[in-house]
Amino acid sequence: MGLDFAALVREWDGEQVVISHDSTTATWMFVCQHSSRLGPATGGTRLRVYPEPAAGLADGLRLAAAMTVKMAMAGMPLGGGKGVLAVAQLPDAATRERIIDRYADLVASLGGSYLTAPDMNTSESDMARIARRCPYVFSRSVAQGGSGNSAPATAVGVLHGIRASTQHAFGSSELSGLGILVQGLGGVGGHLAELLTEAGARVLVADVDPDRVVRAVRTLGAAPVDAADVIGTDCDVLAPCAVGGVLDAAAVDTLRCRVVAGAANNQLAEPSIARRLRDRGVLYAPDFVINAGGVLHGVGLEQLGWDDAELQRRLRGIGDTLLTIYREADDAQLSTHDTAERAARQRLGTNGADQR
Ligand code: NAI
Ligand code: PHE
Repeated sequence: MGLDFAALVREWDGEQVVISHDSTTATWMFVCQHSSRLGPATGGTRLRVYPEPAAGLADGLRLAAAMTVKMAMAGMPLGGGKGVLAVAQLPDAATRERIIDRYADLVASLGGSYLTAPDMNTSESDMARIARRCPYVFSRSVAQGGSGNSAPATAVGVLHGIRASTQHAFGSSELSGLGILVQGLGGVGGHLAELLTEAGARVLVADVDPDRVVRAVRTLGAAPVDAADVIGTDCDVLAPCAVGGVLDAAAVDTLRCRVVAGAANNQLAEPSIARRLRDRGVLYAPDFVINAGGVLHGVGLEQLGWDDAELQRRLRGIGDTLLTIYREADDAQLSTHDTAERAARQRLGTNGADQR
């Protein structure tokens, strides 16, 4: 291991990193502000146990950069950022409150240059607690005046993205009879599995939590897949909805699907993997395009004054954006990831050398 804070930050192309350590709870807090070109740096807060604190910083830096292109592609008047709470172990309720309060004070001290939202292991009730001391927060619970859980909207956006992907790969957006494997049955994947079942797909499910798999098998009639066997399982569409980094070189060589289209952030272990996917004939839905539903939900409803009809229209737009990217990628013989990055850079007005 031995990742070095200074080296990580030096190699990063973002604007500012704020690092804080709460000694009472032994929590490292990283606020990574990648870009304010289109508006304040915005992105969820991830609470996680990492092998070492610097791995949390590395995660935050990568995720913040992805938020910059996600916001640009979603047409949001916001930049990209991410908060990471690197904890020694998942906290009990009292410790969690202490961590969230200290973090709220840290975000408040940045004066609105970073706006936060939920991410892995943080919820709308954590956002409601942040809002007691800090106004710079999206997706508080509905009871606290926010727009609440964004996961169902993210799942709807992914469903539109899967339809666009099958349209491009197989010539039809009809999902009936297609084998679609959902990896991760949490807030997004669990809802997506339901939507896919309603759409007539043959749904396969995998999760490291066996209870979630059992529930999907019982309630949806889904077929269970061992979490360790996801990559090599024969299916039409793989929808990664768990963790990042699932697509490395070995995984791409093992895949037995024609489409990868799911919600997880940073699915590619490194950007060059996108080319390998293309060369293997696997259509890849760039994660930062297909998973924008959470942002559209939180920002659209709370900041842009959308009603539900407008939100649903924008969620459908995720499919249209993907179709455009797929056509442009084919025309230019580029990977879908590079094509989407290029489109994002155009919106950001940068040439790629500098994302700020
Ligand atoms: P979640 O924490 O509710 O669910 C994640 C699920 O994945 C859990 O059931 C967990 O047991 C499972 N899991 C973890 N490691 C796994 C593995 N190796 N194999 C199979 N299953 C595994 O998270 P949520 O909110 O559903 O998000 C899923 C992904 O989508 C995350 O990567 C998140 O960053 C991303 N995302 C979520 C958005 C949202 O609105 N919630 C918005 C955009 C992206
Ligand atoms: N966790 C969300 C994502 O990764 C971040 C987010 C949600 C940001 C809602 C703003 C509003 O997309």
